[in-house]
Amino acid sequence: MKSFYLTTAIDYVNGPPHLGHAYEKVLVDVIARFRRMRGDQVHFLIGTDEHGQKVQMSARKRGIPAQQYVDETAAEFRALYDRLNVSYDDFIRTTEERHQRVVREILQRLHDKGEIYRAEYHGFYSTRQEQFLLEKDRLPDGTWPEIYGEVTEIAEPNYFFKLRAYQDWLVGYLQAHEDFIFPRFRQKQVLEFLKEPLNDLCISRPRERLEWGIPLPFDEAFVTYVWFDALVNYVSGVWGEGAPRTEFWPADFHVIGKDILVPPHAVYWPIMLHAAGIELPKALLVHGWWLLKGGQKMSKSTGEVVNPLDLIDRFGVDAFRYFLIREMNVGQDSEYSFELFLSRYTSDLANDLGNLVNRALNMTGRYAGGVVPAAGVVEEPERELQALWNRTRDEAVQLCEGFQFHLALDRTFTFIKAINGYIEKRAPWKLGKSAAAADQALLRTSLATMAEALRLGVTLLAPVMPATTEKVYAALGHTPVPKWSDELQWSASLTGAKVQAGLVLFPRPEKAVGSK
Ligand code: MSP
Repeated sequence: MKSFYLTTAIDYVNGPPHLGHAYEKVLVDVIARFRRMRGDQVHFLIGTDEHGQKVQMSARKRGIPAQQYVDETAAEFRALYDRLNVSYDDFIRTTEERHQRVVREILQRLHDKGEIYRAEYHGFYSTRQEQFLLEKDRLPDGTWPEIYGEVTEIAEPNYFFKLRAYQDWLVGYLQAHEDFIFPRFRQKQVLEFLKEPLNDLCISRPRERLEWGIPLPFDEAFVTYVWFDALVNYVSGVWGEGAPRTEFWPADFHVIGKDILVPPHAVYWPIMLHAAGIELPKALLVHGWWLLKGGQKMSKSTGEVVNPLDLIDRFGVDAFRYFLIREMNVGQDSEYSFELFLSRYTSDLANDLGNLVNRALNMTGRYAGGVVPAAGVVEEPERELQALWNRTRDEAVQLCEGFQFHLALDRTFTFIKAINGYIEKRAPWKLGKSAAAADQALLRTSLATMAEALRLGVTLLAPVMPATTEKVYAALGHTPVPKWSDELQWSASLTGAKVQAGLVLFPRPEKAVGSK
């Protein structure tokens, strides 16, 4: 059976991970978990991009060997993703032998086919961006934009990949595959970019200038350009005999940020694969960026980055995951602020969900000896809640299929609020005071209904907040069935379950933030 193969961008290890890195991995984790729950066999690859000038420079700054530097930083990234509960199946590092071997194999193949040639390069080079610059990259006053850092004039031989020869092919491919890039407006941007003629891609760096890279198999005096190296991770992670293994490849989605679509993923990568005789991935999913308030970029150089660990330590992993997925419309940008985080945390998690969990568990303890009773009478309020559930589930699942996770969460929390509304309406605390048989029957119904509705609500939250779902299941004395679609049916499966009161999932912010 072909796996549903998902990848993320592999992160540069020249600084600690920040909110943007964390977001992408959580987003893909949500997709992976959702697909597994839908019955797909998922293969989920993440990793680190460890070669290149920036890494070499960072290691030198710390006075340690590059390998030691990348070992330490890659471990930091991996630790964060483990902490975030990212359910990756494989973690690839571009310094690993299994990756380097495939990069060299593909380079050799392209060289043998005459797709790579040697030529003299004369021009300008930005070390910060590891990029050759053109006259058109200059500002009107003749200087270079700040993003390029120090720009030097160089003249050196290099190896070039015949990108331009494939331009027409790529345009035709994109026109014939309208769904290659999601969201669609991104595909249009790529076609716009391809209106200008492409230059062949310089895929080497002389070793005397850059040591930290994969030597070219046909000329060891050069190392491989970092993008040519990094992109290959998607196939080296699933490589078989001279080709990616067919149970994984073609990948179903490469998930990347908007900054690395054009040209690396939408131009270099498809052409590299096509020229090497390898099938293209099925699609690219392009997410937007987390910005600071006012649309400012998070920047390592100004130190204005949001450290995910601070938020996780204070509010828990699931609160952090929830915020990221709830606030971001996949494909668009979103602004981060602590106030926004706190307001989501308080209103949705501590109040709506936290209250519901407390009430459902505590009332079952108080009025039914901690055992979920069987629902007796079913009247209008119960029927209404069940009908709302059916709509919520169908809509949310459909929204997740279209990557509209923020809306799926919105619908789920509308349902959670509706359960709280149902509890207000039924007021079990009043029914509990009455000895009348009809009131006692209604009390049992209301306890059974709120427990079941809570079980369903957290089942829908599982891809985003897996630990929360598990904790609530445990407190409800519930063992889930293997099929998620069965788990999403309104049922009497909780009847007789022994619940445990006292679960505090999301402490009130006053406590969470301590004295602040
Ligand atoms: N190493 C390259 C990717 C190679 S893929 C073959 C790279 N690394 S990165 O560390 O700079 O970025 C990794 C991913 O994080 C990218 O997809 C990038 O878009 C994403 N993000 C980095 N900052 C971000 C935000 N502020 N917001 C959301 N995602 C952002 O590029």
